[in-house]
Amino acid sequence: MATVVTARPFGFCFGVERAIKLARTGKERFGKVYTLGELVHNPLVLEQLEQQGIRAVPRVRDARGGALVIRAHGCPPAALAECQRLGIRTIDATCPYVRKVQSVARRLRLEEFTVVVVGERNHPEVQSILGHSGKSGRVYSPRMRLTAGKIGIVAQTTMSRSQFREAVANLSRFRYTELRVFDTICEEVAGRQEAAARIAQNADLVIVVGGRNSANSSRLAEIARKAGRKVLFAERAADVTHRDLKGQRRIGVVAGSSTPSWVVRDIAAIARNPVKEDRLNVSRGH
Ligand code: F3S
Repeated sequence: MATVVTARPFGFCFGVERAIKLARTGKERFGKVYTLGELVHNPLVLEQLEQQGIRAVPRVRDARGGALVIRAHGCPPAALAECQRLGIRTIDATCPYVRKVQSVARRLRLEEFTVVVVGERNHPEVQSILGHSGKSGRVYSPRMRLTAGKIGIVAQTTMSRSQFREAVANLSRFRYTELRVFDTICEEVAGRQEAAARIAQNADLVIVVGGRNSANSSRLAEIARKAGRKVLFAERAADVTHRDLKGQRRIGVVAGSSTPSWVVRDIAAIARNPVKEDRLNVSRGH
């Protein structure tokens, strides 16, 4: 039997828990409730929400006649203005840590700084921060050359601290009138990344439990790969096969902050006692 170590904490982070709760309460109060994009990057959670009648829509105007939940990633101010213009009620589930980054960006913009966001260009959180940064806001790239002026650097909350430090060191080579750096990485995310690095050191296989489009889950996979470990990405129990686990003596299980705790427990149980089937089907029992 393999030794299985599960990284802690696991289950929803505070911001995801809060967003799901706000969406459900909104549904009870207002009847028709939509979310602007996927509320969280986890297919299991989205399936549950859909069953409860809470559906993701790509555009603000698709929520006419209902209330619109702004997800934990936040949204650009233009989206809120559109809601107001169209008379759509909003339920703001922006994570308070993301709101803090938005407010740092706004302050920098007011003080005429160029805001540089270290993060993934197309991620909704980065888009929301850029929306608060004004026209000069930009996403960091290693090839970026900024000259003179006032520069303010912030991080996407799910960024890895080492990548953020690398970006800051790179940008610090240039001369500016003023350079301000704000480490806006979420401590919950940083804690999970540290735990993943520790677990990866002593594992043959690391199972990352989370949505494939979840930024923080992908980061955990990157950390384990960097440590030279074999990585298995699993969104649900059925993604873990007997073949994947064969011969693995030490297995680490790490999970993104939008992964429900029951999936992590199910997968850890399978890793401990693999069932010899082509595909494992574990009833959720929740
Ligand atoms: Fe918020 Fe951190 Fe979760 S930024 S949504 S508490 S991962």
